Amino acid sequence: MSIRRHSYLPLPSIAVDDLQGRTRQRYGGNLLFNPRYLYLRLISRLGRKRGNFLLAVLFALVIFFILSLKTNWDPERIKEGIPFIAHPTTLVYRKDDLQRIWTFEIESGHFPSTKPSPKEIGLTKIFNPGLPLLPNDQVHGPGIHGTGFGRVYAAIQHENLSIAFPPRPIPGSIADMDIVMQHCSFSSHKLVRDCLEVLRVGAGLDNGNRLRRESLDDWKYIYLEQTQATSTHTGSTSSVQTDSIPDALPKRAHTALEPSPIELPQALAPIPYSALSTACDPDYPRIFHMYWTGPFTDKPYMAILSFLFTQNTGLHLHEPPKACRPVFWVWINPVSAASILDPNAVDDLYKELQSNPWASPFLHERFKNVVQFKLWNTTQQLDSIPELRDEWRKMHTLFNTGGRIVNVPAEDDHKDMGSQPNDMFHRAGSDSSSSYDRLSVILSDMARFVLCHRFGGIYLDADTILLRDWEQMWGWRGAFAYRWSRLSRYNTAVLHMNKGSALGTFLFRTALKNNLDFHPMTISRYLKDAYLDGLLLRLPDALFDSAWLNTENYQRDRPPQPFFKTFEDFFNTPAVSSAEPVALGFNGFFRGAFSYHYHNFWWKPFDPARDWPDLGERFSEGNTAATVLQTSSDQGDLSWSAVLKRTFESYIRGERCNMYGEWLLW
Ligand SMILES: *[C@@H]1O[C@H](CO)[C@@H](O)[C@H](O)[C@H]1NC(C)=O
Ligand SMILES: *[C@@H]1O[C@H](CO)[C@@H](O)[C@H](O)[C@H]1NC(C)=O
Repeated sequence: MSIRRHSYLPLPSIAVDDLQGRTRQRYGGNLLFNPRYLYLRLISRLGRKRGNFLLAVLFALVIFFILSLKTNWDPERIKEGIPFIAHPTTLVYRKDDLQRIWTFEIESGHFPSTKPSPKEIGLTKIFNPGLPLLPNDQVHGPGIHGTGFGRVYAAIQHENLSIAFPPRPIPGSIADMDIVMQHCSFSSHKLVRDCLEVLRVGAGLDNGNRLRRESLDDWKYIYLEQTQATSTHTGSTSSVQTDSIPDALPKRAHTALEPSPIELPQALAPIPYSALSTACDPDYPRIFHMYWTGPFTDKPYMAILSFLFTQNTGLHLHEPPKACRPVFWVWINPVSAASILDPNAVDDLYKELQSNPWASPFLHERFKNVVQFKLWNTTQQLDSIPELRDEWRKMHTLFNTGGRIVNVPAEDDHKDMGSQPNDMFHRAGSDSSSSYDRLSVILSDMARFVLCHRFGGIYLDADTILLRDWEQMWGWRGAFAYRWSRLSRYNTAVLHMNKGSALGTFLFRTALKNNLDFHPMTISRYLKDAYLDGLLLRLPDALFDSAWLNTENYQRDRPPQPFFKTFEDFFNTPAVSSAEPVALGFNGFFRGAFSYHYHNFWWKPFDPARDWPDLGERFSEGNTAATVLQTSSDQGDLSWSAVLKRTFESYIRGERCNMYGEWLLW
């Protein structure tokens, strides 16, 4: 009878206002039942064993349900959320081939780091041309010998004291990512705010505002390579020595392993910038790639403007700069164009760009050497990758992302599959805009790897704004992406890989054996399973995505400037801080970071009051129509997005200089 007495927990009554404002007594004692009672009741009905079993099943279901809700029913992410379900390994290479991949990248100077290689790979002694030779047989770490060029770490300040703008980076200067990681790594609890200060001061971006600080010498992260070859490691044939422990790495079951030895080209011998005979090293082209699907909008427009405002294009000189001039390639996949295979796709694209007000300014003579539009042709791109060429057509499921497969029906005739982008979308049976969008996201996950592996360069997502000259990023020869917020995974919204690298070969071959899945989470697994994640440096968010940790509730007690609680704050800056954008301008926006990633918001205008390409009369052709549509007023504070747009546009109009004090004179 004691059971009955405790049927309900004796809860205090809670007074609740209903909609009419009358106070009612509800949710009182009777409503919540007593779990102990339920349990005893269950056992008395079913017996202890069956009762416990039923409860365990119920409990598991509840956990699964909560996990599923939290992960949007994405099976891959549900699996990630359950700790005891391990992923099957994705590895399709033997240990000696993984050693060959490491060796290729080290010999090519793509691992200029003193970090040790994973012991599972078994490199016992490394002669690294990416690290300077130290005197008296000193080593950089256990078994790590430098054989490369000497380094001079520079203190960067403008020589001309009467100039308030920062100096352009020294051509050929390089960011030491080991030092950057020391100051910025989330894993060692570094704050984005402090990281940005180091990035600013070390590069002289605090020009005219420098204050005394204790630690300025530790903040020198930029170096130049000396010309003299210091290598004494010429006698030995191999640049690494390996252990003799047999290969015990778990491999992917049911899949043929990749043939061994892995086919790799000759490693490149690193050449210091000052020893080059041309401004650009042909093996390391400085191309920013952006991939865009459908009609051109203000989003890629802003990305290109930010490129012109920050990078060393030499536009103000009417000639190439002395440094290696970067170019910006916009890859356009015109899936919204006519659906019939069209041999005139290139002409059509050009016509469409000319009639599009957001795109047409960049067709101007002045920009033609630095901004280039290119047609994305899926067949041609996949055929250009030797690792994929013979096999991608056999994939029944061309598109796979995060473990979810988007079916492309197998056809008898594979020959022309995807010979025109739109064709493929029709075959995939995606007429609705939502699945069409999914496919373009998937294709863009893959496109970045294709572009970097084929041409070299740096891929940028279209929701990226460049904030400073990337000279020192180009100088660093390793491959990189950045960290997925608090997780030790990659985000590939910024991706650098070297042309035809062993890392690229590994990724394409592994993806081919794993349903061509290029989702960033899956890339993280490929690299982790193969102990190759050291070769794709996971740079801190501070460099490319400074707001991310704040928007996920991290580091809110000491945020960087500006402080965004959500990504929307960039477009709708909250009133309490909306004096900042106009008062501080471009210089107050995550100063020190290389770029900003605003995470989608494709539907948000940067500047609702002036939502057209406001580039002045020189570019007015496309603008008049947009201006007439203009309705909202220009009262009150400007958001950060509006201030950046108006800043970049003033530079193109010739009303202000760019961030390095260079004027675009027309
Ligand atoms: C410094 O900059 C000022 C203003 O641009 C210029 O007039 C002057 O010649 C420069 N001085 C040197 C030493 O370059
Ligand atoms: C796309 O590439 C394929 C293969 O290189 C080629 O046959 C086709 O003509 C290209 N399509 C267009 C529209 O350029």
